[in-house]
Amino acid sequence: MLSLLGLFIGAAAAVPFEQQPLAPSDGTAVIHDLAPQTPLGALSGASSQGLRGRFLHITDFHPDRYYKAGSSLEDDSCHHGKGEAGYFGQEGSQCDSPLTLVNETFRWIEENIKDDIDFVIWTGDSVRHDNDEEIPRNLDEIVEMNQYMAQKWIDLFGTRKPSHSNGVAQLSVPVVPTFGNNDILPHNIFRTGPNRWTKKFANVWNAFIPEDQRHSFVEGGWFISEVIPGKLAVISLNTMYFYESNSAVDGCKAKSEPGYEHMEWLRVQLQILRSRGMKAIIMGHVAPARSEEKTNWDETCWQKYTFWMDRYRDIVVASLYGHMNVDHFMLQDSHDADVDELSKTSGGGTVSAMSKTNYLGSLRKQWADLPTPPKGFFERLDSLTETQGKKEKKREKKMRKYLKKIGGQWAERYSVSLVSPSLVPNYFPTLRMIEYNLTGLEQVGLESVEGQTDLPSDSEVYVSPAADAQVKRKKNKKGKKKKKGPSFELPRPPSSTAPPGPAYSNQALSLLGYTQYFANLTRIDEEMQCNKNEDPRVEFEVEYTTSDEVYGLKDLTVRSFLELAIRIGQDGDISNKKKVKVNEAWRAFVERAFAGYVDVDELDEMNLVH
Ligand SMILES: *[C@@H]1O[C@H](CO)[C@@H](O)[C@H](O)[C@H]1NC(C)=O
Ligand SMILES: *[C@@H]1O[C@H](CO)[C@@H](O)[C@H](O)[C@H]1NC(C)=O
Ligand SMILES: *[C@@H]1O[C@H](CO)[C@@H](O)[C@H](O)[C@H]1NC(C)=O
Repeated sequence: MLSLLGLFIGAAAAVPFEQQPLAPSDGTAVIHDLAPQTPLGALSGASSQGLRGRFLHITDFHPDRYYKAGSSLEDDSCHHGKGEAGYFGQEGSQCDSPLTLVNETFRWIEENIKDDIDFVIWTGDSVRHDNDEEIPRNLDEIVEMNQYMAQKWIDLFGTRKPSHSNGVAQLSVPVVPTFGNNDILPHNIFRTGPNRWTKKFANVWNAFIPEDQRHSFVEGGWFISEVIPGKLAVISLNTMYFYESNSAVDGCKAKSEPGYEHMEWLRVQLQILRSRGMKAIIMGHVAPARSEEKTNWDETCWQKYTFWMDRYRDIVVASLYGHMNVDHFMLQDSHDADVDELSKTSGGGTVSAMSKTNYLGSLRKQWADLPTPPKGFFERLDSLTETQGKKEKKREKKMRKYLKKIGGQWAERYSVSLVSPSLVPNYFPTLRMIEYNLTGLEQVGLESVEGQTDLPSDSEVYVSPAADAQVKRKKNKKGKKKKKGPSFELPRPPSSTAPPGPAYSNQALSLLGYTQYFANLTRIDEEMQCNKNEDPRVEFEVEYTTSDEVYGLKDLTVRSFLELAIRIGQDGDISNKKKVKVNEAWRAFVERAFAGYVDVDELDEMNLVH
């Protein structure tokens, strides 16, 4: 395997860098200022403290107690020999994280963001890789390391009296974990539950899994946590059952498969949330990547997931993943969800550093094929109905035609999955603060969320092809021998009068933006060498915000991401020298994918980015 990273070790990124404060938001700061400083305990803590409108997404810690600073980088483990391995980890390597980095990360969170967040999304892989034949992993190490990590959160958010509920720690802020493909042994292999992993982790995570979810968790390793009581739930998927590399299971089509059962469970949860007037954030470890270069999930699981996301588009706020260590996002196209077929294709394998750039390239290719909007479409969209005059009429017609293609004014044809880069310094260690809309939630628990007022001006209700097919099938039923339909209960679509969901139109709970943080281990290491610092620290700094000049996302709705994807997919060569137009969005996308570690100019020179 040709490692791109090898080529860049020591090659400092020469990208100009701008520090930015957390994007200010509508009054969230005020709410925070008024919040009492003492956590009041339990999951209801969120409401009693007043919401801050932010949460943390952190993933792929990969703590490794065998990591040795000053060891050799040669075998990618940083366990042996003499060499360059850094004190806080080795940026740009395949080595895992030393506990010094884990400790410093929690210290930084405590000192800088602990009081600014409402909950934590923690997407797995909380133990080292199995990459050292001399020290193979065992069950005890995996469980103990996960216990260590769980304890870190309990130390951070535990309230003073862990009294009631049989000694289970009470947290001031809900933390929602999920299984990573390395949190089990052998890695990737996760059998139907209940199994020893679901049983062990039910204990390891007992401070995070709500009491009434423990049974469900032991059954399949999945659960739901109401992070804002009565308003917002986080659904922790066990993506091991969807993962191509898990050879112990086989997709989501057959009733006997845990993947099938998991999708049924997900459908029921979303249906319940709908009936309760609640919304959901979906999270998991392995992201539903599906491109020419990379497929993570079994196709039948991807099909169902995409269909579910389409049917519950009024409920799902966002979907957040880890595993890939590369900062990016993906679009799921509901036109690709074919419930009748649910056919099985294969793909997969691990992503090498080299194929990561190919993977990003394949995303760009996908996005280049997105329906091309008329000129100025996104800028003009909000004033669509105010247009008059002949010329305007013509333009309006074009716009409406385009709207039809993308599923109406809110681009409901698509759903989005966000992938956060890792804490383990494959590039630089990172973490992500996500901001959401608090409108109407200031008095959560006392009042219900205000209903939507901004109905689509067009009031054209989007019907996905999959939904269409379902209707036709129902009609066929009355005829003679109908085509055999799917073996599962079809999820119900939103009611035809339901306003667009928070993933589509900016409203209470919609994601507004995120701030991506990273720690420049190269600089920290240099500073340690120079002044022989007695008390070395890891400080995270802002890498970028989604509302900055390049991305310019005014919120994180699907339409905003669609617009960005279209921009990234557009022509324009990354190379300046040939005097071709530079696509700044694509350039930033690649640079951010690698947390600013890799110099995009060099990638360009090597023709890896095109
Ligand atoms: C990490 O922190 C724990 C206590 O919080 C401490 O016992 C341990 O020695 C620290 N480990 C390292 C490697 O700094
Ligand atoms: C939050 O949603 C409301 C609509 O419910 C909207 O008016 C407001 O502008 C949104 N806030 C932000 C900061 O986007
Ligand atoms: C990280 O620090 C090094 C050394 O100070 C510097 O050359 C490099 O530009 C920094 N990288 C980023 C992304 O800030």
